Amino acid sequence: MLLLATPSCDVWLLKWPPGTRVGPHDHGESVGVFAVIKGTLTELRWNGPIPEQRTVRAGEAVLVDRGVIHDVLASDTTAYSIHVYSPPLVTMSFYTATPAGTGEFAQTDDLPLPEGTWRASEEASQ
Ligand SMILES: [Fe+2]
Repeated sequence: MLLLATPSCDVWLLKWPPGTRVGPHDHGESVGVFAVIKGTLTELRWNGPIPEQRTVRAGEAVLVDRGVIHDVLASDTTAYSIHVYSPPLVTMSFYTATPAGTGEFAQTDDLPLPEGTWRASEEASQ
């Protein structure tokens, strides 16, 4: 759910039912930060062949700089998070790991984001 949209940033509230996963992606030209407000999320971040995994608990926030490829997964209980993007999020590129398992990614999709939509929020709003 888009909570706020300004020329410099936008703010989203996301619900993460158990099993929700975004998939490896970046945030285009936007820098993002997300904070878990209820429950727990898992972030995977690729800085090399093996993704770094971190648990993000309620009250914790994570900076996602421009160019970072990461994934966010729900745990076994519903979680809620606030996401801020600056400049406002207009595209997300999605990636898949290469078959050789080198940790390299091939871009599979470049998703323009119509106002008020985001892939994870479609699942999360149900
Ligand atoms: Fe993200």
